[in-house]
Amino acid sequence: KIAGVFGALMNRGQGKEGVRDGPNAIREAGLLTLLKDCGISFRDYGDVEIQAIASDDPWKKVKYSRTVAGGCKQIADKVQTIIRENGVPIMLGGDHASAIGSISGHGLSQLEIHGIKDPAATAPLAVLWIDAHADINTPLTTATGNLHGCPVSFLLKEMSPYIPRDIPGFEWQQPCLTADRIAYIGLRALDPDELFVMDKLKIKYFPMQDVDKLGVQKCVELALQHINPNNDLPLHLSFDIDALDPSVAFSTGTPAMGGLTLREGLQIVEYVRSTGQLSAMDLVEVNPTLGNGYQRAKTMEAACAIIAGALGKPRQAIPYKLDFDL
Ligand code: ARG
Ligand code: MN
Ligand code: MN
Repeated sequence: KIAGVFGALMNRGQGKEGVRDGPNAIREAGLLTLLKDCGISFRDYGDVEIQAIASDDPWKKVKYSRTVAGGCKQIADKVQTIIRENGVPIMLGGDHASAIGSISGHGLSQLEIHGIKDPAATAPLAVLWIDAHADINTPLTTATGNLHGCPVSFLLKEMSPYIPRDIPGFEWQQPCLTADRIAYIGLRALDPDELFVMDKLKIKYFPMQDVDKLGVQKCVELALQHINPNNDLPLHLSFDIDALDPSVAFSTGTPAMGGLTLREGLQIVEYVRSTGQLSAMDLVEVNPTLGNGYQRAKTMEAACAIIAGALGKPRQAIPYKLDFDL
């Protein structure tokens, strides 16, 4: 397999438009050179441009649902193409609403691979969500109206009774996961309704307190044991850069203090890599228009390191030889 890198220029899932420049800032910071130096084979699939839909009035509180949903459909198609070409999609974001697209596309690909004809079936897939936020608001509970705070609710079967059918643009989309197939690490900024829903659905989550108490290694181990007990499901790693502490990743739209160190972030992705099950990855919410030059450079460097770590770069050096075999 090879890594299939692409940019998702999604910026309507929240209010800060500069997040659409994330993918190119990550490339300019040297991601592809880094992968190359590590012996990681990749192909750059370019960018998914998001078509801005002219009249995209709010649906109740929800902003830009048509634009976001249309973009997510294009992202899902791109992910399916990359997987058909034997790639591991690496989506550079863009805001986290894009994960509705990447995870739906990943789910559909897994159904296709297993010859499951019913597009509404639960995909054989596990998702590890690394984030300061749970992103499990619904179109009715969201306080901000920003869809980047909602992707998980669109993806879970158990939440589908709470997702209005008439929200414009999402007609194509179906939930592909059950609540026992997703776990979180790094949480520290949940909305009250989100916590209620997570406990109700018995979703496994490791907030920052748990990272402190147990250590990050134990948190990933337990998270993966829960969502992928036999380590036989392909894994989707959705990494929001705001999971990292603002001291290393300031250039993001909704920073939250008290986050993961870069070392903890690397420990997570290296563990994921060691399972051999990584099948797709998102690295989202990188906004190079925020922060000063130093903060921007650090954020991009962190983003590159997290991606390279997930793809097998050891921390001690650029390896002289790396058998890239996910
Ligand atoms: N919970 C807040 C909201 O729903 C913040 C979400 C932040 N999400 C993110 N992907 N950075 O608006
Ligand atoms: Mn976040
Ligand atoms: Mn997020």
